[in-house]
Amino acid sequence: MRHPRILVCSGSTRSGSLNGKLAALAAKRLAILDAEVTLLSLKDYPLPIYDGDLETTGGVPENARKLKRLLEGQDGVFLACPEYNAGITPLLKNMLDWISRVKETGGAFTNKVFALGSASPGVFGGMRGLIGTRTILEVGLGAMVLPQMIPVARAASAFDETGDLIDERSDGQLDKLVEELLRVSRSYPHKNG
Ligand SMILES: Cc1cc2nc3c(=O)[nH]c(=O)nc-3n(C[C@H](O)[C@H](O)[C@H](O)COP(=O)(O)O)c2cc1C
Repeated sequence: MRHPRILVCSGSTRSGSLNGKLAALAAKRLAILDAEVTLLSLKDYPLPIYDGDLETTGGVPENARKLKRLLEGQDGVFLACPEYNAGITPLLKNMLDWISRVKETGGAFTNKVFALGSASPGVFGGMRGLIGTRTILEVGLGAMVLPQMIPVARAASAFDETGDLIDERSDGQLDKLVEELLRVSRSYPHKNG
């Protein structure tokens, strides 16, 4: 059996992004567990804000098609999502919206498993935003999202200089989440053979 392919992506492309750090750490842990990891930066796939007129006149942008193709080749996805006003970032929502408009191929979301994490300087670690993100993925896009989610609170001081989580409990939570992502990705009914 081949190694599960896991896409890891941060919902922030800001330099020094805390969610970028969480995504990088998740990618590192997944690679140690022998996953075939792709660490995606949405900076490499710029998209205009979704507008129905844009779609009517110009069609779906090539970057949305590329992202959908990339997603289709995965068994699992780890998203590190900042919380903006208790919700998902526009960057991430816009990416999901555009991908959902690529109709030629099958569903990119329905045959794979998603794990969600968030890092925030606040005390809730972005957990409120993750609840909305889960609804979008599950209800809107038909994805399977693991029940466990990792909020990294007070994240400005949560990572050490090597990018690991200082707090042992958070570190253990992340390990459990990536292990579960791999376990379910391997057993989910799809093309992993
Ligand atoms: C528009 C905006 C809204 C925000 N709303 C929240 C919020 O509701 N809860 C929270 O914990 N942090 C909130 N923050 C702070 C972000 O968690 C913080 O900027 C974080 O570092 C963003 O993630 P990043 O470091 O990965 O870019 C907000 C930040 C911005 C720019």
